[in-house]
Amino acid sequence: MPEPLPALDQCPEWQDLASHQAAMQNVHMRDLFAQDPERFQRYFLRAAGLSLDYSKNLITSETMAKLMTLARARALPAQIDAMFRGERINTSENRPALHVALRNMSDQAIMVDGTDIMPEVRATLARMEEFVWRIRSTQWRGFSNQPFTDVVSIGIGGSFLGPKLVSAALKPYWHGQLNCHYVANIDGSHITEVLQHINPETTLFLIQSKSFRTQETLENTKVAREWFLHNGGQASTIAKHFVAVTANRDEAIRFGIAEDNIFPMWDWVGGRYSLWSAIGLPTALAIGMDNFRGLLAGAHLMDRHFREAPLEQNLPVILALLGVWYGNFWGADAHAILPYDHYLRGLPAHLQQLDMESNGKCVTHDGSGISYKTGPIIWGGAGANGQHAYHQLLHQGTRLSPADFIIPLHTHNPVASHHAILFANCLSQTQALMQGKTLAEAKAELHALGLPDAEVRRLAPHKVIPGNKPSNTLLFERATPRAVGALIALYEHKTFAQGAIWGINSFDQWGVELGKQLGENILKQLVSTNAQGDARDSSTEGLIALYRDRHHHEL
Ligand code: F6P
Repeated sequence: MPEPLPALDQCPEWQDLASHQAAMQNVHMRDLFAQDPERFQRYFLRAAGLSLDYSKNLITSETMAKLMTLARARALPAQIDAMFRGERINTSENRPALHVALRNMSDQAIMVDGTDIMPEVRATLARMEEFVWRIRSTQWRGFSNQPFTDVVSIGIGGSFLGPKLVSAALKPYWHGQLNCHYVANIDGSHITEVLQHINPETTLFLIQSKSFRTQETLENTKVAREWFLHNGGQASTIAKHFVAVTANRDEAIRFGIAEDNIFPMWDWVGGRYSLWSAIGLPTALAIGMDNFRGLLAGAHLMDRHFREAPLEQNLPVILALLGVWYGNFWGADAHAILPYDHYLRGLPAHLQQLDMESNGKCVTHDGSGISYKTGPIIWGGAGANGQHAYHQLLHQGTRLSPADFIIPLHTHNPVASHHAILFANCLSQTQALMQGKTLAEAKAELHALGLPDAEVRRLAPHKVIPGNKPSNTLLFERATPRAVGALIALYEHKTFAQGAIWGINSFDQWGVELGKQLGENILKQLVSTNAQGDARDSSTEGLIALYRDRHHHEL
């Protein structure tokens, strides 16, 4: 248990920031840029292959100094070190949080319960390498002795979003032979859409589940197994086509997965932090083990930066503190992730789980209630598409949602002038968010178009853009395995740093349990002949009755 800290919103550093925010109320970023020609250089940092321009924020050097003072008052350096040393910082489950061990390229031991976990991590990586080689070299073939053409990864949450993000992000690195599919949802359409396009003889199923108890994953695996057996597969050939990744080996064996086909996970890796483990097998099969190791290497570089860089030059810490600044002092409830890269279009969905399942909490480590805001609502989508969808709210809405614009300097697919146009869009959006358009500027524009005064007076207020909307711009040379690894690790550490400042446990997720429990009873109600069940609210009862009425022929 970390040292109990005083209530965050009672500490003097917090009060100081609240006063500072009041003093900043009427500051406009236009003026901050006008007053400091060096502002871009002052708030520009490079680390682990990434570059961060955080100059388009509502900050001064005084702001950053006060935020850093808060971070130190919350013992952030010590909490960072505790994570890397494998302390049980997942306090409610009494576990370490050691996703950094999965990409630890150093020869440094990492101890859990007196045992160095690195030999097992490395052995699993070697097993992954051998498995990927056997599949991609076609040495391991299907029951009709044909090479595999399709991999279907069945998993949900962190057993889905992370590997799906990375395999899409690194599509330019895919091996020509293997197609990668993902099945997650218990909506039968998801698995139906996948199964109808593949051949059981040449399909490899990866069952991805840390607990091996997740209803969606187990039900989908049963359907996949039935489909396999009804389309040429035999019980004796299941072992050729079904592999599992789990921390619950016994459950996987009981389910019918061959013992030699089970890759381990460990309880010191949270699901949303597990894409670096064997859960990353679909990615490794698609891009090859060398590129998968490149992904790990990029993340490891970010790990070293996070652990070693002074807070003032620390990318994850700076992003974390900016989020605290807007969420706790400027009333922002949301944060937008806007990747200006088609291959990174899955990043917002992964970061939704990473951030919202980690920091969507309302008690501190010792269970005390919280009177301040914690994790924000993470949303977003690929740019430039969002400019034609939701950027209107960013420019003229009444709600504050800081935004991270993420863009490579080079595209994998140079087409005409597309990348320059995409890049110009990215920069113009952050510039427009910062500087806005005044009423005088709007009127001048309309006058210049020759509109009559009455029309100018009518229209101008609608064209005013307040500006002063904060954004970060994250750049890297190209979406390579190392850059993608560093980028995802950056957000893992940002999420952890925010949780550390808020005094919450970023590594459990008790909030998802109630829905699962209630669902078990409701499912029985929906499908059983006897509709009696726990007394409920009239809404749930009414909706159950509706379903039963429409499905009475199945009861
Ligand atoms: O229900 C939430 C959750 O436990 C996530 O944290 C996790 O990533 C997902 O479900 C899948 O869990 P598992 O990998 O154990 O199937």
